[in-house]
Amino acid sequence: MAPQTRIYNNTGTLARAAAERIALIAEHALSARGRFTICLAGGSTPLSTYEILALPEYGSMIDWNQTHVFFGDERCVPPTDRESNYRAARETLLSHVPVPLGNIHRIHGEIDPSAAAENYEREMRDFFQKRLNQAKPRFDVVLLGMGADGHTASLFPGTPILREKEKWVAAHRVEKLGAWRVSMTFPALNAAANILVLVSGKDKAETLARVFNDPPRPDFLPVQGIKPEDGSLIWLLDEAAHSKLEPPPSLGQDGGQLP
Ligand code: 6PG
Repeated sequence: MAPQTRIYNNTGTLARAAAERIALIAEHALSARGRFTICLAGGSTPLSTYEILALPEYGSMIDWNQTHVFFGDERCVPPTDRESNYRAARETLLSHVPVPLGNIHRIHGEIDPSAAAENYEREMRDFFQKRLNQAKPRFDVVLLGMGADGHTASLFPGTPILREKEKWVAAHRVEKLGAWRVSMTFPALNAAANILVLVSGKDKAETLARVFNDPPRPDFLPVQGIKPEDGSLIWLLDEAAHSKLEPPPSLGQDGGQLP
């Protein structure tokens, strides 16, 4: 399935569109299987989407009681740390919706990184392979962002984790950050039914143009390694991030997305 691109006037319309799309995926999953599995992205871009998803208007589409929340990556910090992706998701979404605590599967950034990665892999395999009898972690939706260097989740350029083919989760020290990260790997992320990559801001425009136009070299631009095996990939961009790319024919006069 070819990747799709949707462009929005600004971060607000992007966040709303992402929330709408996630809610529709949830509604479909819940009616088809009585369960919704979502893998949240870290960073700041998705936070507005999380706040919108917490609004009561989505309560009728998303049965949080039947929803399982995972994280694509985590910084190796306590869950209360301002750097924690879990903390950010809890503050914007998870503490505002009735998702059972047992359905929130956080990466334990506060413990030894390798142990955190092993524990999370075990938790994921228990959930998908034992409980759901699925060979792979086929999330209904995986949310991702992209850094200005082309990283996604905590898959950074030039790092060995990019070549991981078996593990679903790995820990590594990211030299450029001087910090440890725990991240899902390409095999885990690319098993998803739907992947939404949310990118906003002019600072990402140059890299996004390279991601779309340069030959695929995930070692240099890791987000190019996001290719769902049997699922959809949709890029949700604001105009600033899209500004170095050719406008698609469907772009409306006001820059909004035509139906
Ligand atoms: C993280 C994310 C990371 C993020 C990008 C973009 O833990 O930081 O997983 O991959 O999505 O760095 O971050 P912004 O949305 O803050 O630009």
